Amino acid sequence: MGAGDPVGRMTAVIQGLGTSVPAQVVTNDDLARTLDTSDAWIRSRTGIVQRHVAEPGVATSDLAVEAGAAALKSADNPEVDAVVLATMTPDRPCPATAPTVATRLGLASGMAFDVNAACSGFVYGLAVAGGLVSSGVAERALLVGADVMTRVVDPADRNTAVLFGDGAGAVVIGRGNEGDDGAIGPFDLGGNGELGDLLHIPAGGSRRPADEDTVAERDHFLRMDGKEVYRQAVAGMVVSCARLLAAAGLDIDDVDHLVAHQANARILAAVGDRLGLAEQRRVCNVDRYGNTTAASIPLALADLHRQGVRPGARILLTAFGAGLSWGSVLVRWPDLGRP
Ligand code: COA
Repeated sequence: MGAGDPVGRMTAVIQGLGTSVPAQVVTNDDLARTLDTSDAWIRSRTGIVQRHVAEPGVATSDLAVEAGAAALKSADNPEVDAVVLATMTPDRPCPATAPTVATRLGLASGMAFDVNAACSGFVYGLAVAGGLVSSGVAERALLVGADVMTRVVDPADRNTAVLFGDGAGAVVIGRGNEGDDGAIGPFDLGGNGELGDLLHIPAGGSRRPADEDTVAERDHFLRMDGKEVYRQAVAGMVVSCARLLAAAGLDIDDVDHLVAHQANARILAAVGDRLGLAEQRRVCNVDRYGNTTAASIPLALADLHRQGVRPGARILLTAFGAGLSWGSVLVRWPDLGRP
């Protein structure tokens, strides 16, 4: 911002970025050995070629700590007094996983809590962690999106087992001014609980606690109406992005890059087409990672960083997932140094 430019209102800005995925890669052919599916079916219906899968015993906090440490390092290890973890696969039902992550990162004395908005978790997390910072409740926050989805997906269900992978991504959020590199906002967030059954885990909560029957019926695993979720996801992300751009007084041509939740290459193509955004401005890495839920957007941001996006570029993030929940936000690309 040069001399004479108006100073924007106080807002939250991204100051660091880091990711982590498990080393183990599972290809479509690997899955086809135990599941009635094929590489050709998975590629043509989803665009997914492989996914990273956590080894037994590796939990969400393990990936979250690695991503968090990388994000802190990229921001020159600043002091952080809030840790927000977006996840739908916490290490345990209780307590929240964020305090474990904070302690292992040496950030134990600040606030730490989880946000569960499934695949919209990272966008919701930006609103929550950004709000803590811009309101002055926290000086600086670490937001991590992390999920080990392969723990809650039924390995015997070909409708879901081929779609998901494991991973984590994190950003450091500090205070700045609107228009600064890294500035976050405005947002469009929404939800619809009436359609919650389209994507849910039937048992293991207070409605239907886990017992021998729930395990025998495999009700501790994710269930999904794929066709309807697909339809809702495309429509939901397009409407949310359009509403956000209209509220911000912007056109799709003002957007440099679209980073949509990486669920399915066909969903990404449909969203980009309906928004009228040129293909080279869309980020797609679902081929390598599958759907990593709360980690999907930061993993895509890391890919964009590696491609050398210019600081200040206007990025439109949009996500959709269980709840149903959806959210979109504009971000000015931060100056993260060389990839
Ligand atoms: N391998 C082979 N065949 C499969 C299969 C698999 N892994 N999964 C489903 N099939 C079969 C179905 O049983 C169906 O067979 P039928 O016609 O004999 O009943 C056939 O393939 C077509 O299934 P259909 O549901 O029409 O495929 P689709 O084109 O809708 O693609 C999804 C299925 C799941 C890939 C797609 O609906 C989707 O991506 N939905 C959104 C899922 C998602 O992203 N969820 C998370 C959102 S955050």
